[in-house]
Amino acid sequence: MGNVFVLDHPLIQHKLTHIRDVNTGTKEFRQLVDEVAGLMAFEITRDLPLEEIQVKTPVAEATLKVIAGKKLGLVPILRAGLGMVDGIIKMIPAAKIGHVGLYRDPETLKPVEYYVKLPTDVEERDFIVIDPMLATGGSASAAITSIKNRGAKNIKLMCLVAAPEGVEVLQKDHPDVDIYLAALDEKLDDHGYIVPGLGDAGDRLFGTK
Ligand code: URA
Repeated sequence: MGNVFVLDHPLIQHKLTHIRDVNTGTKEFRQLVDEVAGLMAFEITRDLPLEEIQVKTPVAEATLKVIAGKKLGLVPILRAGLGMVDGIIKMIPAAKIGHVGLYRDPETLKPVEYYVKLPTDVEERDFIVIDPMLATGGSASAAITSIKNRGAKNIKLMCLVAAPEGVEVLQKDHPDVDIYLAALDEKLDDHGYIVPGLGDAGDRLFGTK
């Protein structure tokens, strides 16, 4: 069963409260999401493996640590996932960025993939799939299946807010994927919105509503 980590650092909680506020406008919303994504990146990378290298400082030769192996791959789910990318990239500037685009078929209500582009060395990278809202879990689960089918082995999921329903779907479909959240909310409403949530993350990020 994948672990669920709620990253409830006081800075994250404070910023998330303002993100949730209906009176927060697009500019501030975007800025706050960017900041929370950066803070979450700090925690989600806590277990990155290190290796030792020799470095000559101005004073002495030293054996010091750097991150080992290939750098991370980030995969935002279009479109709302894009809003968290820059904040993470500030912390992990060498990460490669793939994209997965999905829409919901109006008849089957199932996610349908319309765009996937990943770094070429998929098998050699660890991936962070990014979606601010883990609601039903359908899109995140489909995106993870899609990148696993292309060879990704080590995947983490990073969301701002999740509903328990979405977490359950992810844990069932992808028990190997750890989930990192800024908050685990109460439930989904009848329209599929997370309660209390923050509304439509894509619309609020891009000012389309
Ligand atoms: N997607 C959103 O943007 N918000 C929700 O509450 C649920 C899904």
